[in-house]
Amino acid sequence: MERLQKVLAQAGVASRRKSEILIVDGKVKVNGVVVTELGTKVSNSDRVEVEGVQLVKESYVYYLLYKPRGVISTVDDDKGRKTVMDLLPYVDKRIFPVGRLDYDTSGIIILTNDGDFSYLMTHPKFGIKKQYVAKVKGIPQREALKKLERGIDLEDGKTAPAHVKMQTVDKKTSTAIIEITISEGKNRQVRRMFDAIGCPVQKLRRESFAMLTTHGLNAGEARELTTHEVKQLRVLAETGKIG
Ligand code: URA
Repeated sequence: MERLQKVLAQAGVASRRKSEILIVDGKVKVNGVVVTELGTKVSNSDRVEVEGVQLVKESYVYYLLYKPRGVISTVDDDKGRKTVMDLLPYVDKRIFPVGRLDYDTSGIIILTNDGDFSYLMTHPKFGIKKQYVAKVKGIPQREALKKLERGIDLEDGKTAPAHVKMQTVDKKTSTAIIEITISEGKNRQVRRMFDAIGCPVQKLRRESFAMLTTHGLNAGEARELTTHEVKQLRVLAETGKIG
């Protein structure tokens, strides 16, 4: 069951906000009856009409984008910055990014119009792993890396166990390249975790999202996920294993 305004928005009728106005204005019928209650939930078997026209459910699409630095991962930006949507101008469905990457972070991000799928990929209880490679200032010692692994107390809660691996150390510039794998998506999580051990991130890239990588794509390019990949990701979220 989904809220009526969400169903309208997903079908491409209007934004969630405008869909609410259509409902309140008495323009929407469910199974032949006008519904003006915003909390109304409908299922796939309900017949929804907007101004006399029956809703056709939009088919779902899934894209994998190699986000470059300097692009914001929102649908629009009030400061007029370039968004991930600008990189997929040919998509005619109402897609949105699954989770987010900071303006200055590059790497893999998925975009879709499938809200359930997005929930499966982002809620920490489904444990979808995202691997990052961070260039940090300073050379963290073993104990600091252990802290990252065990969990860091951030102001919005302790981070779940992570997997951390030192890749390279540059003593001359006092920097290190470190791999970190997490299954949560707290705001600026990786940057804040490294801040907490006194090694601020200078450069950050998301290398992988579950079994997906940006392999074969240049920064700024996207491709559609295959049906098999989408199925694999769902199974992974639902069972913890790739089928
Ligand atoms: N953690 C961050 O700090 N930034 C990102 O973009 C993603 C994870």
